[in-house]
Amino acid sequence: MKKLLFLILSVVSLSFFSCNESPKQTAINIIPKPAHLTVLPGNFKWNSKTRILVVQPEKLKFESHYLANIISKHTGFKPEIDSVQGEMDMSNTIVLRLSPKASKNQEGYEMNVTKQNIAIVAPASKGIFYGIQSLLQLFPPSFYESIHQKEWKIPACFIQDAPRFPYRGMHLDVSRHFFPPADIKRYIDMLAMYKFNTFHWHLTDDQGWRIQIKKYPKLTEIGAWRDSTLIGRYGSKPVRYDKKRYGGFYTQAQIRDIVHYAAQRHITIIPEIEMPGHCSAALASYPQLACTPGPFHVATTWGVFKNIYCPKKQTFQFLENVLTEVMELFPSKYIHIGGDEVPKARWKESKLCQRLIKKYHLKNEDGLQSWFIGKIGKFLNAHGRKMIGWDEILEGGLSPHATVMSWRGIKGGIEAARLGHDVIMAPSGYTYFDHYQANPKFQPIAIGGFTTLKKVYSYDPVPKVLNAAQAKHILGAEGCVWTEYIPTFKKVQYMALPRMAALAEVDWTPAKEKNWPDFQRRIHEHFQIYKALGYNYCPGSYKVDIVVQDSTKTGYQIALTSEIYHPDIRYTLNGSRPVIQSKKYERPFTVPKGTKIEAAVFVKGKLMEVPSVKVIK
Ligand code: ACM
Repeated sequence: MKKLLFLILSVVSLSFFSCNESPKQTAINIIPKPAHLTVLPGNFKWNSKTRILVVQPEKLKFESHYLANIISKHTGFKPEIDSVQGEMDMSNTIVLRLSPKASKNQEGYEMNVTKQNIAIVAPASKGIFYGIQSLLQLFPPSFYESIHQKEWKIPACFIQDAPRFPYRGMHLDVSRHFFPPADIKRYIDMLAMYKFNTFHWHLTDDQGWRIQIKKYPKLTEIGAWRDSTLIGRYGSKPVRYDKKRYGGFYTQAQIRDIVHYAAQRHITIIPEIEMPGHCSAALASYPQLACTPGPFHVATTWGVFKNIYCPKKQTFQFLENVLTEVMELFPSKYIHIGGDEVPKARWKESKLCQRLIKKYHLKNEDGLQSWFIGKIGKFLNAHGRKMIGWDEILEGGLSPHATVMSWRGIKGGIEAARLGHDVIMAPSGYTYFDHYQANPKFQPIAIGGFTTLKKVYSYDPVPKVLNAAQAKHILGAEGCVWTEYIPTFKKVQYMALPRMAALAEVDWTPAKEKNWPDFQRRIHEHFQIYKALGYNYCPGSYKVDIVVQDSTKTGYQIALTSEIYHPDIRYTLNGSRPVIQSKKYERPFTVPKGTKIEAAVFVKGKLMEVPSVKVIK
């Protein structure tokens, strides 16, 4: 029956499209793009009388109030929330209903918007929540400007939706720079909008320990504060510091509140406690955990530091006590233990480490790291949790049950999946949002790299070399926001938006439904939402790509494209630099061999990028 309905709806919409091709029919801007979407004629009109009806109100209490609050914030209407009882007048209502039939996927949902009413049906409250996110994106971007008007038109449509991957993550490093709880909640709001279900919270590192641990108060008395911070780029000369004390941490009460806030939005927080490296802040607080006497200080610059935890009894006691408090705060199935970038010099020099290598017949210091991580993994497993580590945990042998986060490309992910371990893909070239996203010449300082919106969008988390059984181990992809060069939350937003929207589509939308030009159109609309909500964002790379589409006897067909939606591209064919008076690019054109093409994007007459140049050979 559902299939038949779907077919009828599809036919209706197809015939509607073919006879009436105004731009309005494509004006659905949901990101991530739903798995199935059919646009229907007409609109639902949301007005001051529209009510929210809930079939099992006690199970959808948060979701129904969440929707009502957002509607009231942006429209000034105060939608009533009623429970459905017997025969009711369903006109001018939005119905939220749980039903196992709506989707095989617990995160899936169905939404039907007609002229009369809207229904969101899902097997679980998280599907209802995702349906609400889609519904909110059916309002025009002006809705978010909170301009009060009499009614809001929502395009009639039918959606059947469910995510491609079960793990859809965003990470934030709060050690290199600290962001107060209100910013973390805002970040969670951004994740919720794009149907991410995991927030990976990087809480400890060399430059600051950010989580209160009651048993070890010095971690936040000493470890949460550094004396100074490097100014400018790491490695640049002369080295300069700002000489300002910097720091902060989250109390356990604040963490509980944030975990709850995220859980309501169907987001699990995975805490990361780094070991055995990236721990200068912990060693500054408790130097006895190192292999050498210290003293140590909370790092004031970036990079990798050679003082690491020493695998002594008291270190494991410390880490287990810390993890016990961490597990009390975070109910997540996963605990991230870092494991990346561990220089082994201190372990090579340490008598204890060399004794352990002999005693346990380990191959070398990599084997010792594997033994270290294995012990922690066992501890977490014994407490019903699973361990995630960066892909370095593969070196020296992977612990049973460990999940690998592949960041140094996809090699680690492939290896782990072939070994039968679960994998989260976070290859830096695609999902590190601390990289530049446009020409560094015009961008605020970033760590390096060049990961444009289009490149993020192009990513497929499942490596082609994996067979079907191995591919099942790829749980999804995660975007990482490392904050060495990101001192403010405004800049966090600038680096994450819009790339996290592209990643959301990578994680959610079936691969065959992804479509870059359509995403370009939708993200352009989302920029209006960002502006209205006060979110900072990067408009993208203004670079022009000069693409040879075809070559014939008469010449070469050239297309000029840019990441920018409907760009004003000007070009020359005579070796001169394009200016606003140069020929405007309208459609592909043909040039003879040897032609030098120069092209650039202009906004309001202003050149936005160094012109691209190509000689057709
Ligand atoms: C990492 O970027 N060091 C995981």
